[in-house]
Amino acid sequence: VIDDKLKNIEKVVAVTSGKGGVGKSLIASMLALALARKGYRVGLFDLDFTSPTTHVILGLKGIMPKEDKGIIPPVVHGLKYLSIVYYSGEGVTPLRGMDVSNALIELLSITKWGRLDFLLLDLPPGIGDVTLDLIRLVKDLHFLIVTTPSQLAFETVKKLASLLKDLHIPIVGVVENMKINKSNLVEKRVSELGLQYLAEIPFDRLLEATIGNVTRLSETIVAKKVEQLSIKLTKLKES
Ligand SMILES: Nc1ncnc2c1ncn2[C@@H]1O[C@H](COP(=O)(O)OP(=O)(O)OP(=O)(O)O)[C@@H](O)[C@H]1O
Ligand SMILES: [Mg+2]
Repeated sequence: VIDDKLKNIEKVVAVTSGKGGVGKSLIASMLALALARKGYRVGLFDLDFTSPTTHVILGLKGIMPKEDKGIIPPVVHGLKYLSIVYYSGEGVTPLRGMDVSNALIELLSITKWGRLDFLLLDLPPGIGDVTLDLIRLVKDLHFLIVTTPSQLAFETVKKLASLLKDLHIPIVGVVENMKINKSNLVEKRVSELGLQYLAEIPFDRLLEATIGNVTRLSETIVAKKVEQLSIKLTKLKES
């Protein structure tokens, strides 16, 4: 059933990280917006069921998917968007193991994405339930890894990359986010792992004030870098 629901999507890209708080949700959202602005058919699926945030980044309130023998994700800012917040609203969603798997299986099985060039998945951090279930359930899944310059964040990238390589899951590359100096240590280490260093995105003090306003978000330095990243992703589609 899941295969059938995803069969008209050219590339499914999961935005992942070893550590939390490195900028996955922000980059997944801005990447989706950048690709949609280029005219690609894009979906964004917030898979951080217990702590979804992409709706905040996109400034969404009061929208609901249509239902017609399944869920039809609403189009917001030019992209098809799905999040558990449609159903949880302001409520909390404390989910453990099996509940997470069931929510994921249910949403993947009933969502009608239609024809898409890219479906971006915003994952919770680390190698947990959602990541492992996605690997099990979604064919032709690609991973894009986000890290910060911190040694602690990179330490977990090594583990994540090692798992994905062992499972022969393609890694699009690594994005270094919230860069505060010119060190190229992460870039070197990424290439030592045999991975592509896709982009470096500076820490932008002005970003926080633009969260929730996609027009202002698109004018930030982060948006410029994500725009360059989106060009690299479009090459993936052509390959
Ligand atoms: N380049 C940047 N410059 C400034 N702030 C940033 C940048 N990237 C992300 N942030 C901020 O850092 C915080 C964490 O980002 P985000 O929520 O996207 O991370 P995450 O990896 O999705 O976190 P989690 O693992 O909890 O899901 C947010 O407040 C976000 O606005
Ligand atoms: Mg997140």
